Amino acid sequence: MMIYYIAAIAGIAGFLFGFDEGVIAGALHLLRSEFTISAFDEGLMTSAVPLGALGGALLVGRATETYGRRAPLLAAAVLFALGALFSSMATAVWMLTASRLVLGVAVGIAAMVAPLYISESAPAEKRGLLVSIYQLAITLGILGAYLVDFAFAESWRLMFVMGVLPALALLVGMYRMGDTPRWLALKGRTDEARQMIARIRERPAADPAVDSELASIRATALHAAGPGNWADLLSPTVRPALIVGMGLFFLQQLSGINAVIYYAPTVFKEAGFGSASTQIMATMGIGVVNVAMTFVGMHLIDKIGRRRLLFFGFAGTALSLGMIAVAAATESEALDTLAIIGLVLYIAAFAASVGPLPWVMMSEIFPLKVRSLGMSVATIANWGFNFLVVFSFPMLVGSLGLGGVFAIYALVCAIGVVFTHLLVPETSGVSLEEIERHLESGQPFSRLGATGDRLVTA
Ligand code: BGC
Repeated sequence: MMIYYIAAIAGIAGFLFGFDEGVIAGALHLLRSEFTISAFDEGLMTSAVPLGALGGALLVGRATETYGRRAPLLAAAVLFALGALFSSMATAVWMLTASRLVLGVAVGIAAMVAPLYISESAPAEKRGLLVSIYQLAITLGILGAYLVDFAFAESWRLMFVMGVLPALALLVGMYRMGDTPRWLALKGRTDEARQMIARIRERPAADPAVDSELASIRATALHAAGPGNWADLLSPTVRPALIVGMGLFFLQQLSGINAVIYYAPTVFKEAGFGSASTQIMATMGIGVVNVAMTFVGMHLIDKIGRRRLLFFGFAGTALSLGMIAVAAATESEALDTLAIIGLVLYIAAFAASVGPLPWVMMSEIFPLKVRSLGMSVATIANWGFNFLVVFSFPMLVGSLGLGGVFAIYALVCAIGVVFTHLLVPETSGVSLEEIERHLESGQPFSRLGATGDRLVTA
């Protein structure tokens, strides 16, 4: 149960990520009527979160090596609280932008360190499930933000200030936790690492199972000898992991998820949902499907394996985006229903697979020595492509039409099927140490799991 407590606490970081992404949607029209905001200022204010997150992800790569995994999460909690408080008290647009930049830095730190914290504490056979709790928390955060927007429809200040509560929960929860056994071992703090393993596994410190887990972790930690360098990420043994980590985020973001989430109300409007309230209800429906299907993904991830789930996910998103593209391109009213079905199927396939898997896999594929640096680069890819999609969507719609843009996203997802086939390893049930040994063996990364070193057969 202890490990679920850990996952839940770190998952609050994911909730905050989703909340701060989603909350602006319901606040924008109120802000527009209170301040005179130019299109540029609005764009800057909205994209301040992914921009700050990019900075946070850059900063935190080294920091997690020096200060551990717990301290950056505590720092993120403080920034989340301050950002929420300041944004609720803003009296000018630049103050909102600055506060959202602070929130962004917190999101960037949390988005990397929380999955790392969970992954390094989890037993191999439950790692996928436990890291997926993080993605579940993101979707709950988005839904929570929609609900808060709905409940406080008249006051953007109340919407924003609600973010302080989960931030305080993260602060208190993380304060009570220790660091991960793997980081402690890396720092040569073997006794503390043993205590932490015993605490997480709920066994006595002298238990043989604790001994053997510690021995395996220490062997890898000793082998790591000293912190890694950015250049190590390009070494032949690490490069395959870097390609998978960054590639999966490229595919996840270029599948158009945030354009879809952002434009859902518009699509519903075009599909005949006349009033603003029915559009909001339908958007909340999308939020609910997103949460519900994440549960399905969590159930499947350690059972059918990462590769198979990714195949289903990319094939499903490619087909459903294709449906939306056809419906949008023909502009026939009869096809509006097809667009809505496509949208629901798209969110379902995304939430069960393309949403959680890049987060899960980035936390398990990098060797310990460069794990935090690798994860930091992978999350930088996530924020960079996230920004690119949200920023380019309106312009692309202008030049290619909605059908054309969705056709591109569909194509990206089809490429995802090929990418998975050629490059993605099966990490389900394989310990982090075994993954590392496989990379060092020089065999193709995608052969991992097919070579018999998998504990669970997919
Ligand atoms: C993505 C986010 C997205 C969210 C939607 C996450 O995995 O990284 O960009 O907004 O899923 O649920």
